[in-house]
Amino acid sequence: MRYSAHFRCINGCTDKISLNTVIYRCPTCNNLLEVIHDMDALKDRSSQSWISLFNDRYRSSEFPYGSGVWGKKEWILPEIDSEHIVSMYEGATNLFRSQRLEKLFKQREIWVKLCGNSHTGSFKDLGMTVLVSQVKSMIAAGQPIRAIACASTGDTSAALAAYAANAEIPAIILLPKNKVSLTQLIQPVANGAMVLALDTDFDGCMKIVQELTYEKEIYLANSMNSLRIEGQKTVGIEVIQQLDWRVPDWFIIPGGNLGNVSALGNGLLMLLELGLIQKLPRIALAQAEKASPLYESFKKGFEEFKPVKAQKTLASAIQIGNPVSVNKAIKTLRRFNGVVEQTSEDELANASALADFSGLMTDPHTGVALAALQKLKSSNTIQHEETVVVISTANGLKFTDFKVKYHENTLDEVNVKYQNIPIEIEANIDIVKKLVHKKVEELMKHGLE
Ligand SMILES: Cc1ncc(COP(=O)(O)O)c(C=O)c1O
Ligand SMILES: [Zn+2]
Repeated sequence: MRYSAHFRCINGCTDKISLNTVIYRCPTCNNLLEVIHDMDALKDRSSQSWISLFNDRYRSSEFPYGSGVWGKKEWILPEIDSEHIVSMYEGATNLFRSQRLEKLFKQREIWVKLCGNSHTGSFKDLGMTVLVSQVKSMIAAGQPIRAIACASTGDTSAALAAYAANAEIPAIILLPKNKVSLTQLIQPVANGAMVLALDTDFDGCMKIVQELTYEKEIYLANSMNSLRIEGQKTVGIEVIQQLDWRVPDWFIIPGGNLGNVSALGNGLLMLLELGLIQKLPRIALAQAEKASPLYESFKKGFEEFKPVKAQKTLASAIQIGNPVSVNKAIKTLRRFNGVVEQTSEDELANASALADFSGLMTDPHTGVALAALQKLKSSNTIQHEETVVVISTANGLKFTDFKVKYHENTLDEVNVKYQNIPIEIEANIDIVKKLVHKKVEELMKHGLE
């Protein structure tokens, strides 16, 4: 059986559009497109046979199937020739469970999916491998694409720069000036991308990149391009695989431009339709209070949606007031009996620091997700007995400034609860010994928290 996929408008008003077309929006209604798979063809294999295939390929060294994304190639880009695949063995990131974390967050079972333990340190690698591979294949077929461009709050630019460099395709990065972390900025610089720092916010960069890519020679790599979503949708599939095909009660995921939540949903829906799972989990989308237009919409039953002007937040990658993929996100949340929660700067920073005491190194966006967990527990939306999977979207090492300032207690609007500072002390064994014993005793008495 030959598997196939094509673009279609999310409102269903287009015919099949080939994935080789340079197109990001529906020509009729201007809404976003999605990738549709021939599900009848995929049903030629039983659910058990898909499970065996995916398990056999997982982390194997056979190119490209050892990649967490390309191990599911038939569900992603079934028609691409493997010689055009640009992979750095993304995905297959660890799913982390610890009793300490569960104790700190007073929840029976918490798993953290460490998407930041990947090539460029965030989940963006999952989508970028698919998009850049498709572009490479289009260029090989003679299409006049000369470069790939994106607007970014930091992580998308790092992923695009890396994959484009690997594929020898020029990358153009539009960043809001002074609004991304130093580590995020140095990634595209180091990978040789053309980095433009614009005197605006992310929403301003997004507007300009859409105009820039109106010329088809410059291909758009933002997640409004649904090829990215195809790769990102493997996150939910992979978590379920890592849980031995068991479905948790909840996924909690931080959202900004709102592509990733629909990606998570799409992967889970494929699992259900192809019989690999029998029920769906619920999804909680977590936003920072400073940029929470979807939370406002959720409170009104998603009846209306109003973009906002995003305010400065520690969760800088989700400082987005006019999310491009909002309609997809609402559709997903409705299907998954989803909820939206918002968290203050104080809540996200303290949740991140508390989780770090379990040995994690959480980024502020994962802090948003963890603070949302605490709030959803308080409101009894999430019950103690329920199994929760937190999607950790980036590596905390990309946000050292946030961590340093937290422990120095110099963050605005944050009342630091879990400070830990290095103690400067004379290099004298007697003084060191005395202090160590005193501190250890205090710890024994009061615990680590
Ligand atoms: C670290 C991190 N977390 C969460 C998100 C949110 O993903 P999305 O914009 O698809 O909602 C992003 C990207 O914007 C990100 O870089
Ligand atoms: Zn349409």
